[in-house]
Amino acid sequence: MTGMLKRTRTCGELRSSNVGDIVVLNGWVHRRRDHGGLIFIDLRDRDGITQVVVNPTVDKMVHKKAHEIRNEYVLAVKGKVVARPEGTINPKLLTGEIEVNTEDLEIINESIALPFSIEEDEDISEVLRLKYRYLDLRRSSVKNNIILRHRVVKLVRDFLDRRGFLEIETPFLTKSTPEGARDYLVPSRLNPGRFYALPQSPQLFKQILMIAGYERYFQVARCFRDEDLRADRQPEFTQIDIEMSFIDRGDVFPLIEEMVYEIFKNSIGVEVERPFPVLSYHEVMERFGTDKPDTRFGMELKDVTSIVSKSDFKVFTEAIKNGGDVRGINAAGCGDFSRKELDALMAEAVVFGAKGLAWMKITHEGIQSPIAKFFQKDTLNEIIKVFDGKVSDLLLFVADKPKIVFDSLAHLRLKLGERLKLIDENKFNFLWVTDFPLLEWDDEEKRWVAMHHPFTSPVDEDIILFETDRGKMRALAYDLVLNGSEIGGGSIRIHRQEVQKKMFNTLGLTENEAKTKFGFLLEALEYGTPPHGGIALGLDRLMAILTKSKSIRDCIAFPKTQKGVCLMTDAPSEVEKRQLKELNIKLDIH
Ligand code: AMO
Ligand code: AMP
Repeated sequence: MTGMLKRTRTCGELRSSNVGDIVVLNGWVHRRRDHGGLIFIDLRDRDGITQVVVNPTVDKMVHKKAHEIRNEYVLAVKGKVVARPEGTINPKLLTGEIEVNTEDLEIINESIALPFSIEEDEDISEVLRLKYRYLDLRRSSVKNNIILRHRVVKLVRDFLDRRGFLEIETPFLTKSTPEGARDYLVPSRLNPGRFYALPQSPQLFKQILMIAGYERYFQVARCFRDEDLRADRQPEFTQIDIEMSFIDRGDVFPLIEEMVYEIFKNSIGVEVERPFPVLSYHEVMERFGTDKPDTRFGMELKDVTSIVSKSDFKVFTEAIKNGGDVRGINAAGCGDFSRKELDALMAEAVVFGAKGLAWMKITHEGIQSPIAKFFQKDTLNEIIKVFDGKVSDLLLFVADKPKIVFDSLAHLRLKLGERLKLIDENKFNFLWVTDFPLLEWDDEEKRWVAMHHPFTSPVDEDIILFETDRGKMRALAYDLVLNGSEIGGGSIRIHRQEVQKKMFNTLGLTENEAKTKFGFLLEALEYGTPPHGGIALGLDRLMAILTKSKSIRDCIAFPKTQKGVCLMTDAPSEVEKRQLKELNIKLDIH
């Protein structure tokens, strides 16, 4: 742009020590107040905001231009840095002690009226924000998240580099090996009828890199999963992906703890406590009903199956007879909940499959509950004891198959934790969850599926159980949980071909299918595979927690909606017939 006043300083850096300097600022009009003669402009660039003043005494043309400008016009301003008059200092701005007295002003570009204000405290619909993402990204909260994300990635790269890790890129166009989520497929024009898949994670490539002798790998890796989306899930997301050779679980934990410590200290100035607690899958399920518990508050689940099995309450005894459990939580101090509030809680539990929600209120006169009559006094006292119940507490019970009991109570626990304000927003509670079962029975598919992924090693002494008791096998897998969010997962891998073959066989793959899908891995495993393992952290989720964002979308520059749509570009879109023809694809949409 010829003639443009070229910036000499940014809008975030001027302080009282600069008073007297002649500067040129470039930026956007954040706000403009026109007092007729005197015009104030808050000029904004990536770095910050500086107040620019246009005096009535300035050159007429300059004053006229200043009068014409609107929000988000792009300006160049030349002027002198002056101290703000007494009483007009703005402590909220880093540049709040000074202002720039305009001598020359250039309108570099104009902006039409905005669909929403760039001001921070506005409550803007997310649809609008995502459609005009370039405007949303100008808002300081989103901008700060994006800048912090850069910081964190830089910290990670430096940290891992110092510890001898190599960053190695793995392909985006790769082989479809669906196990877990659905693949995004990419048709191959040069190989009609064949498809690449976008990687769900670099899992197999990082293992192959270990076989290739690279020993310590990492990648800030984009992953693609065609799954049903939730607030903490995106169809494409980023992992800090790590793999190491000649290690065991004991090597992974301290490395990640140190990395996380550095991230928190150097990005938001918080020193997290190390080492992180380690709990078994069994223990977290019993205590919290979920494998990613928010441990910032108590309200732990209690198992009352054996106590209530003596009662006459059919709902409980039938559930137990059918192999189910009865568990509950103590919503302390909620003994005054109305019928309506109790019904609302039940509605929450029903979403997770519960057939009902039994309740007991503890009063001065004892237990008050529609089901109290089915229980002996002793049994009621035992129940109160298990929950450490006090007068005005509310006990809530679900009886069903363990999964339904756990899911619904874990959900209720979280809801009540939020409602009763039991969660300290300033806490960062990390937790390793270990000793996961290796396999899970999938009732729909009527087969075993890997709980983590099919390359995760069983605990050595459990390998013999492949033939006898698969449900009992434990995995050398671990998850990293932070404030109730699974922010990472990994495992020690299978490094012996015969074990990998057994695993595929257990998952219902015939020898032929295993060869077609994973032949390259089975082959590579025969050429001297070191023991190896690793982990992947979900960068987007980590950022959401670091920045206290409600959704991971606030930490991603260009996120997609819950339906996988980019509202700005309108992807996914239809394509031209010619493109489909080249790919030998015929649509079959009704
Ligand atoms: P996993 O599938 O557990 O493990 O993924 C690792 C971490 O990635 C994050 N994550 C997601 N974040 C946003 N949107 C999603 N759709 C999404 N899915 C997962 C989570 C999760 O903990 N290859 C293995 C890792 C390994 O074994 O080393 C893997 O991908 O925070
Ligand atoms: P009912 O015998 O169906 O009238 O249920 C009596 C109480 O038990 C009601 O408060 C129900 O919400 C509750 N209830 C029903 N089924 C279950 C269940 N599976 N687990 C816990 N409570 C239940």
